[in-house]
Amino acid sequence: MQIVRDTNTASRLSQLWRLHNLRIALVPTMGFLHEGHLSLIRLAKRHADRVMVSIFVNPTQFGPNEDLASYPRDFARDEQLCRQEGVDAVFYPTPATMYADDHSTWVNEDSLSSGLCGASRPGHFRGVCTVVLKLFNISGCHLAVFGRKDAQQALIIQRMVRDLNIPVQLLLAPLVREKDGLALSSRNNYLSPDERQNALSIYRGLQEADAKYKAGCRDAEQLIEILRRHISGAGGKIDYISVVSQDSLQAVNRIDSPALLALAAYFGKTRLIDNIFLD
Ligand code: PAF
Repeated sequence: MQIVRDTNTASRLSQLWRLHNLRIALVPTMGFLHEGHLSLIRLAKRHADRVMVSIFVNPTQFGPNEDLASYPRDFARDEQLCRQEGVDAVFYPTPATMYADDHSTWVNEDSLSSGLCGASRPGHFRGVCTVVLKLFNISGCHLAVFGRKDAQQALIIQRMVRDLNIPVQLLLAPLVREKDGLALSSRNNYLSPDERQNALSIYRGLQEADAKYKAGCRDAEQLIEILRRHISGAGGKIDYISVVSQDSLQAVNRIDSPALLALAAYFGKTRLIDNIFLD
């Protein structure tokens, strides 16, 4: 497995792979890998001849008061996990390599980015789209894999790829949960044992809302109220709970077409997101 720290070496490697007609998959991550990431890597391996994993805590997608400095990092462990999974190359750049001091070009998706996490994290998706397009260009990938846990991010990247005619195929992988239902996230690492226990209210709320939906309830507010009750009851501070259309991410009152029940909530200082599809 190669570890590549600069953009030119990564590009040269992908050019070499392309010369040999090898299909390249990129798995973009911010590191501190968990089973969710490993499921993306395994999916990539099934669809490509070479897999490049990028590990980069992208500063431009963090707001001024967010957790850029404290975001968990453990490259030695990530490297070992990538080796175990048979990854071909890890792209592990420094911020200075990725962003010139006078960097001034951004990718802005204007519609899907406005609600949900975009509303509470201004500029977040501009940073995500910009770095993802840069990673596509650097890695020369044919396909890229993203997790559905970040459902809004996945949809925005799909839109960016379509709108800008980016020749990269996207594969979306299902959200992965711990045995007790907590959605896997590198940020779970911040939770105290009590906070982690309380955070299980998210999954319980989602399960109850899902059951109510499956029993025929199509009223978004009723499903939202179930989650509100679970999360607030466990001491969580709700950032948003929304039922939105799967295509437009616009809020819906009545669920007549495929929808997404999505939320963000704080347990202590940790902001967690989760979602289920209502199809
Ligand atoms: O989902 C993430 O971990 C990040 O947003 C991504 C896609 C790697 C871009 O920094």
